[in-house]
Amino acid sequence: MRLNDDEKAMLDGAEGPAVAAAMDLLVRYGEALGADRLCDTRNVAGTMTQPSPVKASLVRAGGWAKAYAVLNLDSDGDFEIPHMRVPTCQLQQGFGDDALGLTPYPPAMIELQSDAESFYGNHGVTILATCTPYQVGNLPVRGEHCAWMESSAVVYANSVLGARTNCEGTASTGAAGLTGKIPCWGNHLSENRHGTHLIEAAVPVDGFLEWGMFGYFVGETVQESRPVVTGDLHRPDLADLKHFGAATASSGGVELYHVPGLTPEAPTLDAAFGGRAWPEPIRYGRRERRAVYETLNAQGDRTDVDFVLLGCPHASLDQIAAAARMLAGRTLYPGTELWIMTPRALRTVADRNGYTEIITRAGGRVLTDSCPAMSKAAPPGTRVFATDSAKQAHYLPAILGIEAWFGSLEDCVDAAVTGRWRGGLR
Ligand code: F3S
Repeated sequence: MRLNDDEKAMLDGAEGPAVAAAMDLLVRYGEALGADRLCDTRNVAGTMTQPSPVKASLVRAGGWAKAYAVLNLDSDGDFEIPHMRVPTCQLQQGFGDDALGLTPYPPAMIELQSDAESFYGNHGVTILATCTPYQVGNLPVRGEHCAWMESSAVVYANSVLGARTNCEGTASTGAAGLTGKIPCWGNHLSENRHGTHLIEAAVPVDGFLEWGMFGYFVGETVQESRPVVTGDLHRPDLADLKHFGAATASSGGVELYHVPGLTPEAPTLDAAFGGRAWPEPIRYGRRERRAVYETLNAQGDRTDVDFVLLGCPHASLDQIAAAARMLAGRTLYPGTELWIMTPRALRTVADRNGYTEIITRAGGRVLTDSCPAMSKAAPPGTRVFATDSAKQAHYLPAILGIEAWFGSLEDCVDAAVTGRWRGGLR
């Protein structure tokens, strides 16, 4: 790997042992990936404060600096951790104290995370605590090199914003924050950003539910490739694209897609494929749509619903407002819980707008920082849950061993107030 003078100096210890360890990690990581250089980044998003038993024992044995060295730099060195060199933010983490008593989530983990927030916050990590940093202040510009974790955020950054990031990990983001460097390969290179597959929607894709189902089909079809989607696509909003990308990254491993005429690197179909010949289109029709719906509902058997989960990826303010409108003047079925996950910054706005009060009066909760999949926690006794998120329907049954129903926001709110799943594909 070729290093410039600044990078060589960091590797040789000019900025201290922690930065040298970070550069050493990035060089090893980059060489393993076949990268021949590093690129500069001023936008890092990782999951540094996420609590775990391993982190707890490292902190007990050697303090927070030791935990950073081992988990964020893959080093067993003993050194101080300096302030982040470039803007770095915290993605989703475990539940905070607003979830105390709501789930069997251990209070010791909440306490550990609170200490982590102090340590990382004092070292320059902005505690956004969400899988959707682009909703609350971290909005990279087109072409900006980033070092982000979280599959749903990565696909949004690459595709909707035209920023450039691979799906990074705990160690590479820990090293990137201290150096402002990340291996330059994969999605950072223009030649790797053109479409590989053409998917054509022969049924209308309109609204949150349909964009999520379409995304699930696209991800399953192309796996880790780069789809270009066309056909009967109705103009999506932020929430639709958030759901679409998260679904492509759940059934497959999509990190970048193009919608000609909509996403920034694809003004035309020709541009989406980089001027190369287009492949034969793969059709998404009535049969495929039905098959996706059945797959996402394959884990549902009993129709009595204990728990309804909205806000995966974390809900936008519009989504919270829509749920509040549907819940106004209604009451949740006794024994059925409803949670809406959102970034803490948006919850503050939801509080001011009165949405939280409407949802709370109905018996629901607006929670922050995490989600049941991330924290592996749901209301006690949950056996059957319902969600409007293809990603949660995909992961949560396996993580918690519970049944799942997937459907529209209307179906989910109906389940919350009746305690029954009565959804269906219309
Ligand atoms: Fe976010 Fe949890 Fe979904 S971290 S993308 S709400 S699985």
